[in-house]
Amino acid sequence: MSAPGLFISLEGGEGAGKSTVIAALHGALAARGRDVVVTREPGGTPEGEAIRCLLLDPGQHLHPETELLLMFAARAQLVRDVIQPALARGAAVVADRFTDASFAYQGGGRGLDMGRIAELERWAAGIKPDLTFLLDVGVAQGLARARGRGGEPDRIEREREDFFERVRAAYLTRAAAEPARFRVIDASLPADAVVAAVQSALAAWLDAGA
Ligand code: TMP
Repeated sequence: MSAPGLFISLEGGEGAGKSTVIAALHGALAARGRDVVVTREPGGTPEGEAIRCLLLDPGQHLHPETELLLMFAARAQLVRDVIQPALARGAAVVADRFTDASFAYQGGGRGLDMGRIAELERWAAGIKPDLTFLLDVGVAQGLARARGRGGEPDRIEREREDFFERVRAAYLTRAAAEPARFRVIDASLPADAVVAAVQSALAAWLDAGA
């Protein structure tokens, strides 16, 4: 009998250090003998990556409603093509962002109605992570990190600091409302300390019988 699938998501604002943590989660789960599937959003399927290009292109002028629906269009495709099949065969899915990002960015950042997003969550996504790590870092520190990586900022990275303050507040509100699912990690710390905190929280969760 195969182990049941695990669905773990990773969330955070700009410059929170998700890439390093994704690699660490992959390593920790693989070391426990899990088949690991990593996804990213928006994207993760050929169709979703095409939607991602549209969403992040600074030349596009998207209304908040268009942006929200495109995020869920990419997610609907990813859930059906990748996440559900992986969970069904017992894999551990590590999602670099999932629906909490839409509540934080489109709900908190853009001010769209959270109830509408919850409807889309039920209808278009239909699943929720078992465990969610929120990498929390102050907006100024996160943006400095993200901008320090160089390259042209994408359409969303060009938003003003107050947008990202609302994103951060919405994430923290969601984490406070669902403490059993969320682990809030202080991502202002150096990368190795962040990775260590995530690994120990993951180990505690798995050992508690996930
Ligand atoms: P990334 O930086 O993690 O690759 O994500 C791309 C951008 O998309 C990032 O600025 C967050 C944003 N985003 C949303 O606004 N809503 C969503 O639902 C998702 C998944 C991402």
